[in-house]
Amino acid sequence: MAASQPIDEPGQDAAQVKAFFDQWAIYRKVLEFDYLHHRAAYAAIGRALEELPHPFSFLDLGAGDAECTVGALAGKPLTRYEAVDLSAVALRLARKRAEMLPCVKNFVQADFVEHVRASRETFDVVFIGLSFHHLPQAHKRSFLPELRRLVAPGGRLIVYEPIRRAGESREEALARWWEVARATWTALAPDELEKARDHVFGNDYPESVDAYAGLFSEAGFARPRVLFTDPDALYAGFEAGV
Ligand SMILES: C[S@@+](CC[C@H](N)C(=O)[O-])C[C@H]1O[C@@H](n2cnc3c(N)ncnc32)[C@H](O)[C@@H]1O
Repeated sequence: MAASQPIDEPGQDAAQVKAFFDQWAIYRKVLEFDYLHHRAAYAAIGRALEELPHPFSFLDLGAGDAECTVGALAGKPLTRYEAVDLSAVALRLARKRAEMLPCVKNFVQADFVEHVRASRETFDVVFIGLSFHHLPQAHKRSFLPELRRLVAPGGRLIVYEPIRRAGESREEALARWWEVARATWTALAPDELEKARDHVFGNDYPESVDAYAGLFSEAGFARPRVLFTDPDALYAGFEAGV
């Protein structure tokens, strides 16, 4: 694993850690109030995992604190769990959350794009929750075949990401998201809402459901299907096989 580093390395940049915690506090609120529809998304992901025919290994890319993923994996016949995240802080939380999973575990601090490119190990399920959309479409297109390489025969890719409507531009989708967030994310203080908006407008590249299905097929995935969409058509979960 060339791209990985030990997760408990001392000498972290204090400003970076603080910035992360600031963001993370906002993200925790977003989770708590279910503004990104985590509950419905992970319930659908849990049901999809129940359909797997045998015990499975699971690669969690952009794992964050892994709370929802661990919830969806609890009680399933898991052989191995690997979490990859840029943030040592998130991985420490993920390590704690994953204590309840009775399987082999690994926690890797790395950019998942680099990690996947360097990795040769396969998993029955490769999962990305709310971080694939940071890649613009051309980057998603070039990265998907790398992801496919890591999915074991008979395995699945599962993603849960922001979407846009058919025919909607990125700008229109983000403006629509902002209308919804401004009206409904009432638990966030004005400065927190502003940070969330800046993060989304600076980093998010949602794709339509059809665009995702096309990207999966182009990369050689089979039978892409939608696992869930939220009522505002802002988030969706997908599964594709190999
Ligand atoms: C919005 S959180 C999602 C956490 C969790 N998967 C979920 O569904 O709630 C995004 C996480 O992905 C991580 N992340 C974003 N881009 C990444 C990258 N290129 N490589 C590794 N981690 C990344 C962030 O550090 C953060 O912990």
